[in-house]
Amino acid sequence: MTRPVAEPYKIKSIEPIRMTTRAERERAIADAGYNTFLLKSEDVYIDLLTDSGTNAMSDRQWAAMMMGDEAYAGASSFYRFEAAVRDVYGFKHVVPTHQGRGAEHLISRILIKPGHVIPGNMYFTTTRAHQEMQGGTFVDVIIDEAHDSTAQHPFKGNVDLDKLRAVIDRVGAENIPYVNVAVTVNLAGGQPVSMQNLRETRALLQKHGIRMWCDATRAVENAFFIKEREAGYAGKPVREILHEMMSYFDGCTMSAKKDCLVNIGGFLAMNDESILQSARELVVLFEGMPTYGGLAGRDMDAIAQGIYEMIDDDYIAHRVHQVRYLGQQLLDAGVPIVEPIGGHAVFLDARRFLPHVDQEQFPAQALAAALYVDSGVRSMERGIISSGRDPQTGENRKPKLELVRLTIPRRVYSDRHMDVVAYSVKHLFENRDRISGLKMVYEPPTLRFFTARFEPLPASAKKQEKELALV
Ligand code: F0G
Repeated sequence: MTRPVAEPYKIKSIEPIRMTTRAERERAIADAGYNTFLLKSEDVYIDLLTDSGTNAMSDRQWAAMMMGDEAYAGASSFYRFEAAVRDVYGFKHVVPTHQGRGAEHLISRILIKPGHVIPGNMYFTTTRAHQEMQGGTFVDVIIDEAHDSTAQHPFKGNVDLDKLRAVIDRVGAENIPYVNVAVTVNLAGGQPVSMQNLRETRALLQKHGIRMWCDATRAVENAFFIKEREAGYAGKPVREILHEMMSYFDGCTMSAKKDCLVNIGGFLAMNDESILQSARELVVLFEGMPTYGGLAGRDMDAIAQGIYEMIDDDYIAHRVHQVRYLGQQLLDAGVPIVEPIGGHAVFLDARRFLPHVDQEQFPAQALAAALYVDSGVRSMERGIISSGRDPQTGENRKPKLELVRLTIPRRVYSDRHMDVVAYSVKHLFENRDRISGLKMVYEPPTLRFFTARFEPLPASAKKQEKELALV
């Protein structure tokens, strides 16, 4: 018998949630164009759309918010925020932004010129969109295992050094403003990067005089995996591991809406003074004064406090274990998910879940809609729709991974909620033949997954027979 690990906090304030009827959910998903992003949250029972900005703040964070200094310039909240970033992440300078993509916008604008190439360990939607907006091209240099949902590798987020070397040889170091390394890798399934890989990537880039930038959005989860899986780190506090990870980078973009346990905020941090100066010049134009960057003083105070709570070893251990608790139930039932189970989410492998639905009929989107109808659980497509179209050819990009993400907000749901989710997914898996594909009826020009609309395709004859059999 293993001793259970419970939530390392107790509940002081609750937010009621309501279970709807199946008929209500069928109507709601049709009104939402079969896109879970377009559902109203009051129609959702358990919201696993994202772990972004959905965190529950602690009593100490709420108290810190009352200390917010709302001065337009030079607010003390900024200096507390800056001190926390310096202390925990170790970068010399920080510019706040309203969220992660605000920081991505700044760094892309500062460093990318048309024709540049930006290698990275798998794309992220907003990151790549900002790179492309500046005329850059993203090139994927993640290890092959990351694209295979069944491959067992402790650090599936690792950079493939041979691929990176090949890109440098092909385009020349002068055309690579920086390499963007995400820790963990969201779209690979929340997979971590090893410390050794960071060290080796750093050494290679240093040789070529190329900057190494970090997407630190879920870096604490990555630090926890290093502690669990990499030799030499077992006894170390997550805080020290995070600090070492960051020491290999020239700077980072950050969505504080994840690791930092807040509902809004982000930052760009760096050591280089000239990048700081450019960032300060641009942030005034796009976000706000360099001492608030689109945030209220109280938001910066909540982040400063959250930064210390996120590196609590008990907190992060429970966080990752809760994700695993859900994932393991699905694995035990034979449901195809991305393995190993990642840090922030369980990803259903829609290709293997719905082998009868062609990728052009959006199996992950169809599965996310079906899950909502079954139990009011909201999830997110991370497949062909999120991947978008190639800007050159206009063709759909067809990623190998066609996934539904069940993303666990931090400190929000109990393990019992995870049981409800697991039950519903298993129920759908047993009845998977009844789920048919979708066709897209509205497609926006960028980041289409947020607002695209769909209609269900008529069920195939074979499926209808099955359906009759099930009734
Ligand atoms: N980088 C990663 C790895 C992310 O997961 C996100 C956001 C961003 C950057 C952008 O940050 O939303 O604060 O502007 N991911 C959210 C998600 C949206 O649901 O995965 P943002």
